[in-house]
Amino acid sequence: MKRRSIITVLVAAGAVLAAGVLFSATADAATTLGASAAQSGRYFGAAIAAGRLSDGTYTGILNREFNAVTPENEMKWDATEPSQGSFSYGNGDRILNQGISMGAKVRGHALLWHAQQPGWAQSLAGSALRNAAINHVTQVATHYKGKIYAWDVVNEAFADGGGGGRRDSNLQRTGNDWIEAAFKAARAADPAAKLCYNDYNTDGVNAKSTGVLNMVKDFKARGVPIDCVGFQSHLGTTIPGDYQANLQRFADAGVDVQITELDVAQGNNQAGIYATVTKACMAVSRCTGITVWGIRDSDSWRTGENPLLFDNSGNKKAAYTSVLNALNAGGSTTPTTPATTPTTTPTTPSTGGGCSASTSLNSWNGGYVATVRVAAGSAAVNGWTVTMALPSGSAITGAWSATNSGTSGTVSFRNVSYNGSIAAGGYTEFGFQGTGAGPTATPTCSAG
Ligand code: XIL
Repeated sequence: MKRRSIITVLVAAGAVLAAGVLFSATADAATTLGASAAQSGRYFGAAIAAGRLSDGTYTGILNREFNAVTPENEMKWDATEPSQGSFSYGNGDRILNQGISMGAKVRGHALLWHAQQPGWAQSLAGSALRNAAINHVTQVATHYKGKIYAWDVVNEAFADGGGGGRRDSNLQRTGNDWIEAAFKAARAADPAAKLCYNDYNTDGVNAKSTGVLNMVKDFKARGVPIDCVGFQSHLGTTIPGDYQANLQRFADAGVDVQITELDVAQGNNQAGIYATVTKACMAVSRCTGITVWGIRDSDSWRTGENPLLFDNSGNKKAAYTSVLNALNAGGSTTPTTPATTPTTTPTTPSTGGGCSASTSLNSWNGGYVATVRVAAGSAAVNGWTVTMALPSGSAITGAWSATNSGTSGTVSFRNVSYNGSIAAGGYTEFGFQGTGAGPTATPTCSAG
């Protein structure tokens, strides 16, 4: 009798337990991509096009499934600054407002890129292009200040092939430091946005991704602001076996990672590859989210490859289900979302008030780009002037984040409106480009 009642109790307890497990599994399994990703603190986004926002099937899926958006083309340079100094934000704002109305994160894409430049920028070079590019970053990031979760500050600047070096482009020819100049300008304009470097063919451990990783480590070591790296992940019918390990090595270098433009050729394993990507992101604690590059196959830029999660009619494909299941399976980790902390580190403050300046030089045969750091001492600085002697034959062709008096001999640089105030122990930077040899003498700084 006694034994039987114990068994009864155990069976009953087992039933309750089983029911409890079942119930909680059901409760945890969200039914949309965005809600499933949100369970682990991540987002699931789509690239969207302003021209499709009047399509009800399209916006129906968008509003239901996604909690992040990226403008497919609307915030690129050709769209936002069609003629120099004249900015056009209509379609970019449409994407922003769509994202805001959904309560979604908005990824900004892309401030500087060798492609989709307006014609006027394509025909510029040297300091005229450098100044125009930095001005573009400042203007666009300022327009969207406080609204953007993460900016692709620089897109696709590394070369394919084995070298791991930079791609040749008009921007690259303004000096190797164009990327860090862009990141600094973006940070100054919108301190709350995470600043990303974004590229393709970096989806496994290879020479190109290693080149990008080395840049990240260098930026981190020198206090150049960078918060995240985007992996476009335009994939064919295979995926590198070290996809997750590659994400992890970037995370280990101290940046968030994001899958930014995912699409996968239909092939015979599309659902499997989508699952592998999703699981990889879920397994890397600093992988903060995934964006697919379009909604339906008919919306994709990869015409005929059917690389997305919804078919032409808006039906969910097998790949959709595999992504949803991978999101619902959860990760052993949740993304850390540290508040954006400026990654700039103060230079050793000089003792006393006033300011000091130091120059770092990137020179080539016949020209140079100089970056000058202006540091406050133990007291805040309000306004500064840096003076330095240029070698004979050296002439300044352009400056940014400062106004120069003179272009040769002894020249001085005055702060501009947004960088005159430096906190005690803090610093700011400006730069200039010139022909001939760059300055090697230590500059002087006067405060006030
Ligand atoms: C593509 C868009 O999808 C197309 O509509 C446009 O014609 C070309 O650009 N890498 C990127 C994206 O960073 O901006 C590109 O988007 C796809 C490749």
